[in-house]
Amino acid sequence: MLIGVPLETAAGEKRVATVPEVVEKLVKLGFQVAVQAGAGDAANCSDDAYRAAGAEVLPDAAALWARADIVFKVRPPSADEVALMRTGSMLIGFVWPAQNPALMELLAAKGATVLAIDALPRQLSRAQKMDALTSQAGVTGYRAVIEAANAFGRFFNGQITAAGKVPPAKVFVAGAGVAGLAAIGTAANLGAIVRANDTRAEVADQVVSLGGEFVKVDFEEEGSGGGGYAKVMSEGFQKAQREMYAKQAREVDIIITTALIPGKPAPKLITAEMVATMKPGSVIVDMAGEQGGNCELTVPGQAVVRHGVTIVGYTDLASRLAKQSSTLYANNLLRLTEELCKTKDGTVNVNFEDDAIRGLTVIKEGAVTWPAPPPKLPPAPPPSKSTKADAAPTAKAKGHGHGSVEPMSAKTLGIVFAVGAVLFWFVGAYAPASFLQHFTVFVLACFVGYMVVWNVTPSLHTPLMSVTNAISSIIAIGALVQVAPPLDAAGAADRPNTLILICAVVALVLTAINMFGGFAVTRRMLDMFRK
Ligand code: NAI
Repeated sequence: MLIGVPLETAAGEKRVATVPEVVEKLVKLGFQVAVQAGAGDAANCSDDAYRAAGAEVLPDAAALWARADIVFKVRPPSADEVALMRTGSMLIGFVWPAQNPALMELLAAKGATVLAIDALPRQLSRAQKMDALTSQAGVTGYRAVIEAANAFGRFFNGQITAAGKVPPAKVFVAGAGVAGLAAIGTAANLGAIVRANDTRAEVADQVVSLGGEFVKVDFEEEGSGGGGYAKVMSEGFQKAQREMYAKQAREVDIIITTALIPGKPAPKLITAEMVATMKPGSVIVDMAGEQGGNCELTVPGQAVVRHGVTIVGYTDLASRLAKQSSTLYANNLLRLTEELCKTKDGTVNVNFEDDAIRGLTVIKEGAVTWPAPPPKLPPAPPPSKSTKADAAPTAKAKGHGHGSVEPMSAKTLGIVFAVGAVLFWFVGAYAPASFLQHFTVFVLACFVGYMVVWNVTPSLHTPLMSVTNAISSIIAIGALVQVAPPLDAAGAADRPNTLILICAVVALVLTAINMFGGFAVTRRMLDMFRK
């Protein structure tokens, strides 16, 4: 089958639905690929690069749409593009079926099969590799910070220089979904002090892990509306949230907003009064511009200055990093094509038994199949004993960071101590003196080991295990003794047997790998916890 990639026609769109590196992989799957001349120019993918990767370059859109069995697109097609489409062919790209009923009708009338990448059931872990909403949101969040840095007149990081002390910029991110988290990570990496808020309390840990501080609204209300998305909050919550946002607006230099609720206009979080209280030179980047904006003064698609504050409302942030977003998008479509073409023979099978494919397919051979029934998710595991212990951890368990371990009752503890004491007395009374010496060291080692491991945060257990693995290479000592045996009283050493020598050297090499590898792995793992 022939996959066609047209030039995007939406105004200002620089992305392209596939890139030369991905074309090679599509060809390996058995497909032919045709690209419209100039389709990748704005994303730094030349026609020659496509040709070199094995694609055919067609002169215009009409030729491409007429020949393609499958069309890869970024933006939903225009009515003119649908008119060029071959009857019964396939379209894969962003479609937004809920927002574009007229387009759905046109596509159905063409007898098309349409896979809307925006309709992917994102909650399926298998679907993550195809999740273009996530890949594009990551680019958008990054670019939002770069736009903020561009409009902001100071450094992000604090500096102490001969020319004076520079305080770090303070950034507040409203909405910590995929784009918000990318913005938090980018701003923190640039050295800013980052705070964030979201109505879904479960994202607090993610905010902290990316170097931000989660700022709570002083009002208890669950913010999840199902499927990992937000819901419209109560009036009481919104009032408390406005108060908190007003305080942040007075304190911070940059506000980045990404708050969205599926199928609803973006919540208005930053009022005109809040903008007026911001320091002159501050910046707001409103990523929700296309859904009406999170700030009352946002002009979608433009950067404007209001009350001395630059308000950036660009709606093409992903397109402003066209090479990056196109590459990620092309990879998402490649993974989808692999799912459609398991036989690797250049044909596709729209298998409705597959939850991910079913969710994506909004029209099949002219019949509208949207919305798809919810995917069958694996049942949630029954609450385990450890979860119960987590729910009501005792002071002891809390103190050790091991909520999953139920503490012993005082009675059991007493019995354990009594049995232990009797055993120790027995060993002390009857064992030989040489055994006692080793036994004391053994007991002390157990005690120290227990105390050290027990007080380590569970998340650090894996690095801890690799480091203990490294230092436990006692074989090294045995092998060293064999290679260089101890000298006798006269200062002479027995020459070791050659076979033993070889075995000792091999043991030394292997244990060295274990030791140095263990330390290297520990270091890499600990680096993951550092900023
Ligand atoms: P989105 O773009 O629809 O919303 C952005 C963020 O705005 C969300 O975090 C939402 O909670 C927040 N928000 C909405 N109203 C708000 C308000 N009034 N005040 C403050 N914040 C508000 O969401 P996105 O980024 O597309 O995904 C949201 C979540 O979906 C992700 O964080 C993740 O948990 C989940 N998801 C799950 C996936 C999976 O299960 N594999 C894959 C992708 C996303």
